[in-house]
Amino acid sequence: MRLPNDSKVGRLFIRTFGCQMNRYDSERLVEILGKHQWELVEDYRQADLIFINTCTVRDKAEQKAFSYLGRLKPLKRSRPDLVVALGGCVAQQHGEELLRRLPHLDLVVGTHSIREVPAMIARYETTGERQASVGFSYDFGDEVDGRSLASRPEVSAYVTIMRGCDNFCTYCIVPIVRGREVSRPSKEIIREVESLVERGVRAVTLLGQNVNSYGLRVTGEPDFAGLLRLLARVEGLLRIRFTTSHPKDLSSSLMHCFADLEPLCPHIHLPVQSGSDPILQLMKRGYTRAHYLQQVRRLRAIREDVAISSDMIVGFPGEGEDDFQQTLSLMEEVSFESIFSFKYSDRPQTAASRLGGKVPEEVKLRRLQTLQSLQERLTMERNKAQVGEISQVLVEGPSQAGGSQLSGRTPHNRVVNFLGTPQLVGEELPVLITAAHAHSLEGVVCVKESSSLHAVKERSWCGK
Ligand code: 5AD
Ligand code: SF4
Repeated sequence: MRLPNDSKVGRLFIRTFGCQMNRYDSERLVEILGKHQWELVEDYRQADLIFINTCTVRDKAEQKAFSYLGRLKPLKRSRPDLVVALGGCVAQQHGEELLRRLPHLDLVVGTHSIREVPAMIARYETTGERQASVGFSYDFGDEVDGRSLASRPEVSAYVTIMRGCDNFCTYCIVPIVRGREVSRPSKEIIREVESLVERGVRAVTLLGQNVNSYGLRVTGEPDFAGLLRLLARVEGLLRIRFTTSHPKDLSSSLMHCFADLEPLCPHIHLPVQSGSDPILQLMKRGYTRAHYLQQVRRLRAIREDVAISSDMIVGFPGEGEDDFQQTLSLMEEVSFESIFSFKYSDRPQTAASRLGGKVPEEVKLRRLQTLQSLQERLTMERNKAQVGEISQVLVEGPSQAGGSQLSGRTPHNRVVNFLGTPQLVGEELPVLITAAHAHSLEGVVCVKESSSLHAVKERSWCGK
């Protein structure tokens, strides 16, 4: 491959695995490489550079990335000029060793090295030497400038407010591969949100491994509640969400934001992981079951309708049947809106990987299935209770179902599909919920008529 130049545009294909943090990093890469005449293509066979952004939080995620990489071998053999790059947490974890293990890999890009990619490509092109960059850098650099080049942002956008994590939950590899916790300056965050809103974004999701500890270690910066209060003033910003929150750091000032700030959506992702005290202690989560439940009660006393979602791990080392039953009963007690649930998986260098009492795979699987069917029931009950209600839906785009169906989200983060025209994308509309499904709701748009709301059912309805 020759480097992109005045007469040639480089073609970039990205495959992203894992969390929102990775999706955000992939977006940044598109923008950074966009400045160097790279454009995104949808077919990897057309690409000059294939970038695989990986996740290592569970073994399965890591294996998926390696198997994808393995499938690129024949293509690289037939086109030696193709550049194959591996980024994200797997790259950070294994570093330069990957270049030795995988002869068809050219670049290894660690979690803090996205900005280095243009220079890495240039060095590789001029010297022919395969490159690895896995150092940690704790400044946010030109994140905002990169963003300002984005062609047309979606209705909702992610905004990173912090990186890394200092909690060292015993099962988790994140502090090892994403580094120490660092908060991004509030002025930069506000500037980025303002610029996104100017270009049509209506909703932002603030990202960090533990947003509740935002700003706590920096003098002169607001804490997370303070940051939310500043962002709530950005004109034209309809909705603010954030993820992820640690229950031990959920402050009462943050809880009050849910009552005070109009744009703050009444939804919180508050991972509990387990309902059993001995397991929470082995996980080093820093709270008990009773404390978690108390936090939930306090939050609901301030904002009754707040939707709470969670992450759950089954089969953590030492988890017995009683511990698992405690998890199920906590789920019933909280009645989570939705959950992400995982079988515990040993991760290298974590404290839990050295614990005894490993739970057999088939027991983990059975517990996972039991937990998921309980959650399906809880979600279904909640969805059914929405039928007949009118919700404000922010229209995000065409629905996956196709046709003239649009898809949007309620403030509680429930997905609603309904008939409508593409001009409605970006609007916030009242929608009457008419049916409940396992993972979404169905509705019809309402229009205001002599101060009462009427549902519009005709297929040909054309909005305003
Ligand atoms: N095994 C299983 N699940 C894990 N998670 C993190 N590490 C592990 C692990 N070793 C889950 C937690 C976390 C989510 C992002 O991934 O539930 O909240
Ligand atoms: Fe991992 Fe715990 Fe940090 Fe979340 S809070 S990223 S689970 S160490």
